[in-house]
Amino acid sequence: MNYADLLIETHGKVAVIRLNRPKALNALNDNMMDELGDALYKFDADSNIGCIILTGSEKAFAAGADIAAMVDYDYGDTYGGNYIGRNWEHILNVRKPVIGVVQGFCLGGGCELAMMCDFLIAADTAKFGQPEIKVGVTPGAGGTQRLPRTIGKAKAMDMLLTARMIDAAEAERTGLVSRVVAADKVMEEALAAATTIASMSLSVAMAIKDSVNRAFETTLTEGVRYERRYFHAAFGTPAQKEGMQAFLAKRPANFDGL
Ligand code: HXC
Repeated sequence: MNYADLLIETHGKVAVIRLNRPKALNALNDNMMDELGDALYKFDADSNIGCIILTGSEKAFAAGADIAAMVDYDYGDTYGGNYIGRNWEHILNVRKPVIGVVQGFCLGGGCELAMMCDFLIAADTAKFGQPEIKVGVTPGAGGTQRLPRTIGKAKAMDMLLTARMIDAAEAERTGLVSRVVAADKVMEEALAAATTIASMSLSVAMAIKDSVNRAFETTLTEGVRYERRYFHAAFGTPAQKEGMQAFLAKRPANFDGL
């Protein structure tokens, strides 16, 4: 896969998609979002891949939507052109687990894109923020919605209204990221986590992802009912047989292709 604004690697069953506009701190433009959708869908459909990592550079996951591209937009370009809706949310359709790995700036649309990943691993250099208010706009890719659901209203309002950046330690304290790792070890740690995930049954991993995401869309009773369907259905799959038989036989489970 060859892209202008992305770098692609695979490590065994793990795909790594790297946002790559280093001169603009990975400011997210239309072409990059089109390419990201294309890469995500290809890896989601590739049976050799079990987990996807989305990352940026050492300096920036992404410093936001591309201000230079947006500056002259009018309402026809945004509403009429379905800006954001058109190509920013492909990641939400990906069924396989997606880990976001954040080093450096993760701001505005960059933070919103990161929050669409299933979980985030941050380098100790990471800085998160929603500074849209400073450039005269509201967030437009879920910042006012996913951030309060993730870190709570007080912290989210503080970040959104003051444009204050939080560091990796504060991001971990507030639950925005699952782990913080020294910058020179963060990809190694993320690859290890992704490899672990990719060694499990893909269908079970996808079911867990879908069920967790359901928690944010429905009531507790309905969510538990939803989960229970997956749990019951698991007993009709070879993954359950392999997992439980392997445990009882005291051998490692082999979920290859399951
Ligand atoms: C376009 C950007 C950019 C952005 C940085 N650059 N962020 N270009 N859009 N969002 C460019 C700069 O213009 C500069 O280009 C180069 O990247 C390096 O940036 P500097 O500002 O020189 O670096 P530094 O002094 O280290 O400051 C880093 C920074 C700052 C704090 C991250 O760049 C910054 O505040 N960026 C904007 C952050 C922001 O407001 N994001 C939200 C955007 S709105 P040159 O050519 O001069 O070297 C948004 C809306 C989302 O995201 C809603 C829908 C998704």
